[in-house]
Amino acid sequence: MSKITIAIDGYSSCGKSTLAKALAAKLGYAYVDSGAMYRSVTLYALRHGIIKDHGFLEDEIIKCLNDINLAFQFNPNTKSSETFLNSENVEKELRQMIVSENVSKVSAIKAVRTKMILIQRELGKNKGIVMDGRDIGTNVFPDAELKLFMTADPDIRTQRRYDELLSKGQHTAFLEVKKNLLERDYEDTHRKENPLTQAQDAIVLDNSELSREQQLEYVLKLITDLTLSVN
Ligand code: DC
Repeated sequence: MSKITIAIDGYSSCGKSTLAKALAAKLGYAYVDSGAMYRSVTLYALRHGIIKDHGFLEDEIIKCLNDINLAFQFNPNTKSSETFLNSENVEKELRQMIVSENVSKVSAIKAVRTKMILIQRELGKNKGIVMDGRDIGTNVFPDAELKLFMTADPDIRTQRRYDELLSKGQHTAFLEVKKNLLERDYEDTHRKENPLTQAQDAIVLDNSELSREQQLEYVLKLITDLTLSVN
């Protein structure tokens, strides 16, 4: 059956990438984590001293865009797509708190978004893709056949991100993780360029009380009901 585009948007840490990866694996689709692109620009700027003390000059960030090359590669061991920044696998570094603390401001810069959206559209031009982010259904792929808008209780989201950081050996206080999530939600929904909003034709998925399996089952059923392709 013909391939479709699946756009998943929503608040920070509500399991977008978990669902997107599972859907991509089940359907044999590509998975693209658009947040990883904004995180990569932020990591580059941090490493090159362009972001200092949580501040930066917009022009400096825009200038460094030409020096940033992004690529994605599927890792069969982790069964997941990994991000390469100028040929270096940065998957682990992208989740550091220092990146999370600066990424919303970097992603609010128009020129940054323009470059990332070009890459995202190129990656999705042949369909057969699951992409998650904040503006995928509203802006990157407004014609996506399936759009999901994900949300979950803030404490549950915090616990998930806290556990994820811990599993990567990064110890951060629960309240600090929660503060970062809420601040990013605020910045992502209030910025001028492509803010996070629910697309009119998106299906809302609150997964506060759902297990990963239940969530996947629910969405696969949605796809079947839409008489779309399930391998
Ligand atoms: O999905 P994430 O938490 O890794 O995303 C990191 C940040 O990147 C998020 O706070 C906002 C920004 N972002 C964005 O502006 N647009 C997207 N499509 C994806 C992420």
